[in-house]
Amino acid sequence: MSLAGLLDALPIPIVQAPMVGASLDDLAVAVSEAGALGGLAAGTLAPADIGPMVASIRGRTSAPFVVNLLMAPKGDPAPGEVDAAIARLTPWYAELGLAPPDPPNQFAPDFEAQLDALIAAAPPAASFTFNVLTPEQVRALQAAGTYVIGTATTVTEARAWAEAGANGICAQGFEAGGHRGHFLDDVDDSLVGTLALVATIRAAVDLPVIAAGGIMDGRGVAAALALGAAAAQMGTAFLLADEAVTSKPWRRAVTDATDDPTRLTRAFTGRYARGIENRFMRLMHGVEREVPAYPVQNRLTQPLRAAAAQADDPELISLWAGQAVRLAQPGRAADMVRRWWSEAGEAAEAVAARTRRAQERT
Ligand SMILES: Cc1cc2nc3c(=O)[nH]c(=O)nc-3n(C[C@H](O)[C@H](O)[C@H](O)COP(=O)(O)O)c2cc1C
Repeated sequence: MSLAGLLDALPIPIVQAPMVGASLDDLAVAVSEAGALGGLAAGTLAPADIGPMVASIRGRTSAPFVVNLLMAPKGDPAPGEVDAAIARLTPWYAELGLAPPDPPNQFAPDFEAQLDALIAAAPPAASFTFNVLTPEQVRALQAAGTYVIGTATTVTEARAWAEAGANGICAQGFEAGGHRGHFLDDVDDSLVGTLALVATIRAAVDLPVIAAGGIMDGRGVAAALALGAAAAQMGTAFLLADEAVTSKPWRRAVTDATDDPTRLTRAFTGRYARGIENRFMRLMHGVEREVPAYPVQNRLTQPLRAAAAQADDPELISLWAGQAVRLAQPGRAADMVRRWWSEAGEAAEAVAARTRRAQERT
């Protein structure tokens, strides 16, 4: 089978976006069991935990699923950069009654070791974000029986993944919640909306495209398929799912989201990401370009965000969410994907009925 075949054979052509911090194996299993494609966020997992996690999903569903890795650099801060970043964060830690963290020895899991573990675990599909694999790495995954999906935010990035031999592209539009996946250009030059991105990537590369960004219900799924996408990837729409691990204050912020609540910020992690604006984002806005690049800042704010979540304080945690967050609803993941797929049918039927009315008038 091909990746196109796998996606086409899904009873429900929806991919649950793997979401570090918000989703783990329970959500992936629930979504895959319901007939869509569950996604495991393995980006922050230690290499030794990847095999057991993939095995646990396999033990709970025979349906396909996708595992995501973040191609983060190790982090190579300039001398003094970490101390300066910690000093800048000290008042924020003090708000929670905490001392700032000591300079860590490691900023992110070793990507090469994660990749080796993933190749050994051989999930049905794997997606990659923040960079592009080498052709050798792509071939190693494929030889293990894993389809490779590359995240692209521009047509040029999609071409780079196609040249590396990927089986498919996840096209991440500007609307998307969480980190931007750009890796060739600056973020400012990598902010294409989902409509334009899916259509132009479809025209540029001969690979199945998964549309991501701003898709919150069946109307969005139908729109993605109409654009030629093989499936719709949804993240924010799952944040309130029973099986998601979204923290209590984060769920509240999603539930109470106003009309236009999200913004891109670099302040939490050193890489631009979209989330609901809170006090940390507002007050750090002026210096966000000065914080150390991902994964250094990400590691330095991790204990702050964990403590704030524990203290039920939404103002100091990263409330990652996409532009259409206001449409998020709670419920069981299986019910959600079934409802969205039935709504997609209704949306397609509404377009067909509109077409018929026009034809009848001529
Ligand atoms: C909370 C959250 C965490 C995310 N974590 C990841 C991740 O670990 N890896 C990844 O490739 N994409 C991640 N994303 C981005 C999604 O893959 C996807 O591009 C996005 O959710 C689509 O837009 P939407 O949120 O409007 O549905 C994350 C998104 C959110 C909202």
